Amino acid sequence: MLVDTHAHIFLEQFESDFDQVLERANGAGVSQILLPAIDVASVHRSLELADRHPALFAMAGLHPSEVKKATDEDFEAIAKLASDERIIAIGETGLDYYWDQSFNEKQHDFLRRHIRLASELNKPLVFHDREATWDLIRIVREEKEASSKPEQIRGVFHCFGGPADVTEAVMDLDFYMGIGGTYTFKNGGVPDATATVPIDRIILETDSPFLTPAPHRGKRNEPSYVRLVAEKLAEIRGLSLEEVANATTENAKKLFDLP
Ligand code: NI
Repeated sequence: MLVDTHAHIFLEQFESDFDQVLERANGAGVSQILLPAIDVASVHRSLELADRHPALFAMAGLHPSEVKKATDEDFEAIAKLASDERIIAIGETGLDYYWDQSFNEKQHDFLRRHIRLASELNKPLVFHDREATWDLIRIVREEKEASSKPEQIRGVFHCFGGPADVTEAVMDLDFYMGIGGTYTFKNGGVPDATATVPIDRIILETDSPFLTPAPHRGKRNEPSYVRLVAEKLAEIRGLSLEEVANATTENAKKLFDLP
């Protein structure tokens, strides 16, 4: 079995064929799908979906790109939802400098709040990083150093792309690395850049509907395609598909405390 640890299937792109998307995932051996939130509304939507489908699991968090317009009340709503026992992780949070650098300080502030919330609830974090890697790592380090329970600050760097020095820093923080569609891109360079990531630190993801793996690039991504990522990883690492599936599923179950 496989776990897609990062799929935004609560988005409107999946409204018309949601049940078929789940059926195809099931047919591809994907038995659990984790739904990282983007904003407060998406947490509610994810909880509704998780209540109806035992394969789906909800998270609570504000995506870094949403932080620009987010208020203290929004974060309070997230914090309240996060304590619900159905919420398996805090995310996605992190830093994104790619689209807009005008609110970096606010992103740092909200990132720290998410980290402290996760630590308080002892739930894992799901980090998004775009062109902000070393600031993200520095802030996680600082929060761990200031914490009385640093081992409760744990989680995954989603859509991980290396390189080796970042891998080393993430290992040092005791975090997992999420490998997805970019790993399959021809000339994308991700397999080389992540060559030093040990299999016991890897979890698989799609980031549906984005970052669709080869050979479906340009189309909508969906959880069944996590199998393509697993196949590519097996091919590159010289492992069987079963070995990749077993290792990454075990990692995901451990990190997210899945049934
Ligand atoms: Ni995402």
